Amino acid sequence: MEKLTGLNKVKTAVFISGSGSNLKSLIKFSKVKKSPIFIDLIVSNTKKAKGLQYARQFHIKSKILNFKNIKNTEKKLLAFLERNKIKLICLAGFMSILSKNFIKKFDCKILNIHPSLLPKYKGLNTHNRAIKNKDKFSGCTVHYVTEKLDSGRIIMQKKVKITKRDTSTTLARKILKHEHKLYPKAILKVFS
Ligand code: GAR
Repeated sequence: MEKLTGLNKVKTAVFISGSGSNLKSLIKFSKVKKSPIFIDLIVSNTKKAKGLQYARQFHIKSKILNFKNIKNTEKKLLAFLERNKIKLICLAGFMSILSKNFIKKFDCKILNIHPSLLPKYKGLNTHNRAIKNKDKFSGCTVHYVTEKLDSGRIIMQKKVKITKRDTSTTLARKILKHEHKLYPKAILKVFS
């Protein structure tokens, strides 16, 4: 039987800022045979990100970087990614905005998951805005990252019904569960 070493998979970095539930689902996905990715690095813009626990749990190297000093940080990060042959970046709840220069210079793919049906509700507070507007549906989107925020080509979306009882908290929870399935599916599509 072929030994699953990860060596023939796409070396991937996942960028996080928070609880890291999408990161956890991507790690699980990366371990199945059909997955095209191998998660080699976790980057966080804060040491407070709970998702960093998965770096320890799954023995993945991690970097906590200060994106406030963006120019210097990104320069070092780009060099590190290149040295480590990282070919894919998955943003998963990463709340810093990467500079145009970084996006241009990293000449491999950058993907993001966003908690709305883009192009609706780019930016923050997506669930609140969908409920306030009395939308019947919201959802999540996986898209390519380009220099314009939340505007790159859409890879996959999942529509989720908003009920009358939904608050931004319940809706966020509901959509997050779909995000965990959508991100792996979108990655499969990108590499199919
Ligand atoms: C997810 O809902 C993700 O879509 C969102 O943050 C949450 C992170 O959860 N991302 C954005 O809002 C990006 N603009 P997680 O840390 O549990 O994966």
